[in-house]
Amino acid sequence: MDIVLIPGDGIGPEIVESVKEVSDAMKLDMTWHTYHAGSEYYASNGKLVEDGLMDAIAEYGIALKGPTATPIGTGFRSINVMLRQQFGTYVNLRPVHSIRGLKTRYDDVDMVIIRENSEDLYKGIEYMYDNDTAHGIKLITRAASVRIFEFAFEYARKNHRRKVTCVQKANIMKMTDGLFLSCFKEVAQKFPDIEADSCLVDAFCMKTVTDPSQFDVIVTENLYGDIVSDLCAGLVGGLGFAPSANIGDDVRIYEAVHGSAPDIAGQDKANPSAILMSFAMLLNDHGMKEQAERLNSAIDGVIAEGKHTTCDIGGKAGTKEFTQAVIERLG
Ligand code: NAI
Repeated sequence: MDIVLIPGDGIGPEIVESVKEVSDAMKLDMTWHTYHAGSEYYASNGKLVEDGLMDAIAEYGIALKGPTATPIGTGFRSINVMLRQQFGTYVNLRPVHSIRGLKTRYDDVDMVIIRENSEDLYKGIEYMYDNDTAHGIKLITRAASVRIFEFAFEYARKNHRRKVTCVQKANIMKMTDGLFLSCFKEVAQKFPDIEADSCLVDAFCMKTVTDPSQFDVIVTENLYGDIVSDLCAGLVGGLGFAPSANIGDDVRIYEAVHGSAPDIAGQDKANPSAILMSFAMLLNDHGMKEQAERLNSAIDGVIAEGKHTTCDIGGKAGTKEFTQAVIERLG
């Protein structure tokens, strides 16, 4: 299988190396096409992405991406947003589930967050109205809303999930979130076998930290999805355990939810679990369900054993030691 590999910034190259080592140990037939992108590449080359990257993603349709840093407030736009818009990856799929042996407040979290990836305030339509007033446009369309809800209900049906909850704020944003919610209700009628309900985003945060078992599949707008998925990651041990897939009709880009973690970059401290779990999602989506389960279960096993865990969850192991422990558990 051909996979475009983007190491990215900060801890990116270290965690991506972990994936390659695990893939080799599993004897998977992968051809990695490596291209650089991100702020470090920009600093030394004056370009955000290496020539050929976009063509390679278009050609092979599958990429595994390390985190890329984005300057805050000023500077260039996020590479993630650019890739999502360029390749029409309108779904951001973020499963969140408890890891065996990892002590957190709840041990039975099992949710899937489906974030609309193409519009909302992340569309980037911002301008200065005058020197003291900035405007940002929240864009919600019927087409994109119906498309994400159809994906969510079909995903629920295919994966034997019982309920889809639409998270929004339609009481305040009556037009934008109101349109989003009304499209949800329309699409829900086509899936009578799946329970459908809705929740305001603020109440959703409170209810999730109080009792996450009441939620199953969550479908939400771009900005809320970004925020609530970090909140949910916190319920299962933190960003080190949050994988994701950006899904479009022709392209899938897999990546950890976390960022480039500049505070620990280059120190062999990063937890590679999230990108390894993203790689397992890739395998699962491309006919390698058994290998995906093998990898997830090896990660679970290392965490449950507790001898080779990384510092984000109180362990002492580095990225390399953790990776080696996963490889030994692959059997
Ligand atoms: P971050 O996720 O990079 O780090 C937040 C905290 O979590 C830090 O203390 C970090 O050390 C820790 N952390 C994150 N991943 C970890 C891992 N795998 N193992 C152990 N600890 C981990 O978020 P932050 O600091 O807000 O962002 C840093 C940069 O990353 C920014 O430039 C931001 O734009 C970018 N970013 C990129 C993303 C992507 O490419 N998908 C996603 C989120 C942020």
